[in-house]
Amino acid sequence: MSSSQSVIVQPARCVRGQVRPPGDKSISHRYALLAALADGVTTIRGYSTGADCASTLSCLRAVGAGITQIGAESTGLHVRIEGRGLRGLTPPSGTLDAGNSGSTMRMLAGILVAHPFSSTITGDSSLRRRPMRRIIQPLERMGAAIDSLEGRPPLTIHGTSALQPIEFAPDVPSAQVKSAVLFAGLHAQGVTTVEETIQTRDHTERALATFGVEVRTAGRAVSITGGQRLRAQTLDVPGDISSAAFWMVAAAALPGSEVVITGVGLNPTRIGIIEILRRMGAEIQVEASAGAGTEPTGTITVRHRTLVPARVTADEVPGVIDELPVLGALATQGGELHVSGAQELRVKESDRISALADGFRRMGADIDEAADGFSIRGHRRLHGGDVDARHDHRLAMAFAIAALGASGPTTVRDAGAAAVSYPEFFTVLDSLRA
Ligand code: S3P
Repeated sequence: MSSSQSVIVQPARCVRGQVRPPGDKSISHRYALLAALADGVTTIRGYSTGADCASTLSCLRAVGAGITQIGAESTGLHVRIEGRGLRGLTPPSGTLDAGNSGSTMRMLAGILVAHPFSSTITGDSSLRRRPMRRIIQPLERMGAAIDSLEGRPPLTIHGTSALQPIEFAPDVPSAQVKSAVLFAGLHAQGVTTVEETIQTRDHTERALATFGVEVRTAGRAVSITGGQRLRAQTLDVPGDISSAAFWMVAAAALPGSEVVITGVGLNPTRIGIIEILRRMGAEIQVEASAGAGTEPTGTITVRHRTLVPARVTADEVPGVIDELPVLGALATQGGELHVSGAQELRVKESDRISALADGFRRMGADIDEAADGFSIRGHRRLHGGDVDARHDHRLAMAFAIAALGASGPTTVRDAGAAAVSYPEFFTVLDSLRA
């Protein structure tokens, strides 16, 4: 499917079945980045099939990591990465392209600042609109110089082998910002600390520990001592709960539905969706399994129950930031959802508040937009319509899920954007229709 392709989504009576979601996107990026810095050869199974994680691999190749795709399995790609050792990356011969991936650009910047060469990272038109001052400011404090277009990409990074450690309290809760500073801190001379006001996903802390790096956590502060070497690993990536969220919501929305999600990551900083779905009335069972290294894993079963009104407030937002569009889709089917403190949605792959309000309204929803969130009341059935995903993968999939409960078909323009995180999405959707 090309990224601009439209898909017509027909209503569904209900969804039933079992899904093993593709490898987690956030964890895949981190394992690949750290594998490139490690001593020795790392193999990763279940690596995300999404275009974003392919962007990370192609950027890492361009700075000297030896990367081979060994195979493709039902859980994701099997990838082999020959590490270059700490500070061992080499200057790229051209501009690095992060595609649509904010994670690639921000986290890779935290690594490139520690290498004594200049490199430029750009991205697609969506990524080139996204704010980068949040990483430029702390990384410059550490001693690098970064040129940008008034705080937006492309970024030209002038790295140094003499990074200074910092104590840093980010203005916005962002795991990408925390990770960029910790990755730079891994190369600095001394102890770097990031202290957050609201906890964000901790995959970086866990991934560093997996590669043998000591990371200390005290309350909301995470510290790393520079100069620690990383040992290559054999790794499995758990299924992506942000991709599973689409099936969890479809099951919660449609009477008679039951979906079982297996092999899915259950990291406590990512499972906010479970709590919010329960609050909205869904029946959910969670069963932990052996886990994949330092990341907890298990099975989630979701059944439809009558939906009721719920609220999501600022302190919960980082734990469900990527799931808010599809939680909005659930509220179009019954109950109500009021989201506040989520202004970050405006600087994601699209302005997700305005794009969501526009799309859902076209489908017949009752939705109000606020500067920092939205309110949706699901008292009337959607009629379906013609909606634009605006090159945003999570919107393409959220609109498709809302369309299942409509009385008529919905055309999702730019539905191919789903491939950024979940290329198999529309195939799985058809397999779950019952
Ligand atoms: C991510 C962090 C979040 C999230 C993004 C992935 C990560 O972004 O929205 O999809 O892997 O660290 P922010 O750090 O900008 O909040």
